[in-house]
Amino acid sequence: MKITVIGTGYVGLVTGTCLAETGYHVCCLDVDPNKIAILKQGGIPIFEPGLEDMVRRNVAAGRLSFTTDIAESVAFGDVQFIAVGTPPDEDGSADLQYVLAAARNIGRYMTDYKVIVDKSTVPVGTADLVKAAVADTLAERGEALEFSVVSNPEFLKEGAAIDDFMRPDRVVIGVDDERAAAMMRRLYAPFQRNHERVLLMDVRSAELTKYAANAMLATRISFMNELANLAESLGADIEQVRLGMGSDPRIGYHFLYPGVGYGGSCFPKDVKALVQTAKENGHELRVLTAVEEANDLQKLRLVDKVLARFGQDLSGRRFAMWGLAFKPNTDDMREAPSRVIAAELSRRGAEVVAFDPVATHEAQRVMGDIAGLSFAADMMTALQQADALLIVTEWKMFRAPDLDAVKRALKQPLVFDGRNMYDPAWMREQGFDYFAIGR
Ligand SMILES: NC(=O)c1ccc[n+]([C@@H]2O[C@H](COP(=O)([O-])OP(=O)(O)OC[C@H]3O[C@@H](n4cnc5c(N)ncnc54)[C@H](O)[C@@H]3O)[C@@H](O)[C@H]2O)c1
Repeated sequence: MKITVIGTGYVGLVTGTCLAETGYHVCCLDVDPNKIAILKQGGIPIFEPGLEDMVRRNVAAGRLSFTTDIAESVAFGDVQFIAVGTPPDEDGSADLQYVLAAARNIGRYMTDYKVIVDKSTVPVGTADLVKAAVADTLAERGEALEFSVVSNPEFLKEGAAIDDFMRPDRVVIGVDDERAAAMMRRLYAPFQRNHERVLLMDVRSAELTKYAANAMLATRISFMNELANLAESLGADIEQVRLGMGSDPRIGYHFLYPGVGYGGSCFPKDVKALVQTAKENGHELRVLTAVEEANDLQKLRLVDKVLARFGQDLSGRRFAMWGLAFKPNTDDMREAPSRVIAAELSRRGAEVVAFDPVATHEAQRVMGDIAGLSFAADMMTALQQADALLIVTEWKMFRAPDLDAVKRALKQPLVFDGRNMYDPAWMREQGFDYFAIGR
């Protein structure tokens, strides 16, 4: 079985590389010639731990190749994974133009049976649209070739993507015909050695499962953020509360961390898209609407604390910011809270000196228009002459900083910690004014 992956971004590149790692021959297509050029030169266009070595190893073994040639990529794979972006449209619904363009390209060039797999996160009903797009294009050619459309949403986490793909909690496969079901089972057999992880279901249920999972995770975050804000007013410590709650196995410890709000390429757009899908079908998802509202407010929570301390006008102030990426171990800046925080500080006249161990380059690209924002080459340089430190992403390297050096570099020992990295009592003992979330 040979495999084509369409779209060589965070999901496509990981999918293609991990499949090649198990022995498959994989061809990755992208319409972005810069990405393909970087990959052909042995680099990777994104930061993902362990990925570069794995790409290199599989290219060297002749199992993994990259192309911008659509005809070549369609001819290559028996299975065609669509892993292109599905950004939000103006009304919040998922913009399917890239998915449908990929589908039409398959219809335009296929000459034999193909299993077409929607791996992108797409609303319920998209498999039908993909099917229609391929069928229409085939009809234009006067061809009547057979194909199947399968939903196989991806659950990997950026920063741990390889491990998630190689040892998935589950592989959801939505499929309506036996031939494609058998091929998908065989395709994923290398990932089932310890125990069966494939969940076969109908296509629509598979499409909804992905949104349901992300919406649940986003809900936990917004729930904890609102409780954290309440805990502050009540004189309770949300970190103690979190432990007390999480110890109940019905709740569990995962994803109960309050902070500066969720970001990234998935939760914000998937929550919006699910709310919109519901609306189009006559339902109002009240819980999820509130989840989104709470998240928008939470992104400014750290700024509110800064304003409470310094007043509304921040001109002449300088703030150090540790962390730009929406979470650690990625350079993904999509919907990162750091963007909102830096923009708001800047709007109020402040200078911001930011440091991130891997996302600086990407941040320069997407935050270049924020006045007064500059980027430091290391975490200590960012602190020089700053009025306070803001912690926005919980990179490991921030867990145990040299606090004496931090104190010496800052104008005053003042930390606004959006990720609850430190023990408040310890920080006070070290002489810091320390503001965290919900403590
Ligand atoms: N990033 C994640 O953590 C993650 C996790 C699970 C699911 N998803 C979903 O997977 C999908 C892809 O996400 P991503 O983060 O990898 O996106 P991405 O933006 O990193 O990559 C998408 C790639 O597709 C390419 N592309 C667009 N149209 C194309 C076409 N017609 N033919 C070939 N290539 C084309 C783009 O150039 C880009 O390189 C989205 O639907 C997303 O919601 C993402």
